[in-house]
Amino acid sequence: MPHKIIFDTDPGVDDAMALLFALKSPEIEVLGLTTVFGNSNVEATTRNALNLLDFAGRPDIPVAKGAGVPLVIPPHPTGEFVHGDDAMGNIGWHAQTNPNMHVVEQHAAQFIVEQVMSNPGQITLVPVGPLTNLALALQLEPRIAKHVKEVVMMGGSVLHAGNVSPLAEANVHNDPHAAALVFRAEWPITMAGLDVTEAVQMNAAYFDELAAGGNRFGGFIRRVVAFYQQFHVDWYGMPDGEVHTHDPSAIAYLIDPSIYVGQQWPVTVPTDGPAIGATIADRRLRFWQSPKVNCLMQVDGDRLRALYKMRIRA
Ligand code: BDR
Ligand code: CA
Repeated sequence: MPHKIIFDTDPGVDDAMALLFALKSPEIEVLGLTTVFGNSNVEATTRNALNLLDFAGRPDIPVAKGAGVPLVIPPHPTGEFVHGDDAMGNIGWHAQTNPNMHVVEQHAAQFIVEQVMSNPGQITLVPVGPLTNLALALQLEPRIAKHVKEVVMMGGSVLHAGNVSPLAEANVHNDPHAAALVFRAEWPITMAGLDVTEAVQMNAAYFDELAAGGNRFGGFIRRVVAFYQQFHVDWYGMPDGEVHTHDPSAIAYLIDPSIYVGQQWPVTVPTDGPAIGATIADRRLRFWQSPKVNCLMQVDGDRLRALYKMRIRA
């Protein structure tokens, strides 16, 4: 039985890479996309979600537009400096490629609640952006925590340095109050954080391999990733066109969890002070009673890259 997922996303170059990976994998059935601010404003991330489904030939998959701002804090600047003005590597996606596609009328949080409550025990939530929609859904209907199959998120970091502050990863930092609610809820969470996503890199030669022979999905990925590669040169000094493998990691875990080693620790998110938006794990299992999170701490990068390439080129 494939995993039935709701992909909660702020596309975003690596969100696009993750979505195409999911759509090409028989282990995964994408029930819907819910959108959130983050890599750009929610109007742009929603447009990109629609355009990606149009590109992938899946205009049938519903898209529900979600939160445009965090729950409590004023919004941080959005991520165009990482993902391009259109948040898709400056390929000129400033309008819908298919004007006949429309978002559903429900807000993302309502969409999540309705899908989970009408399919108890079956739905996996895969948030790869700020956790605002999941927190809003929990506030609307706390029983979703009991009825979700699992939550597999990209975000946070246990031991790795942060990517937007010394301690914090962008998705959690963008809405720390939402993340705090999500980590307090009693649902099974797997966290693919920087500990594993920065440990796996894809480089220029790899993107050429994805695109070889005119492969349509691989060619698209190589095209949208160029701006993101330049960001990794400027920010991290990466010499060979490498990028970190953030959002595709959540999908890879769902397809083949044996690529990862996880450890079960309670996680807390500070909502103010210098550690705001960090994901602090109680690694001694001594101090906190909150639900344990499956924190992914090790990854086999070669297997992940091989799996990703096989699926994108299939
Ligand atoms: C996360 O932040 C966003 O820029 C990416 O899409 C990813 O979800 C990495 O910190
Ligand atoms: Ca993302």
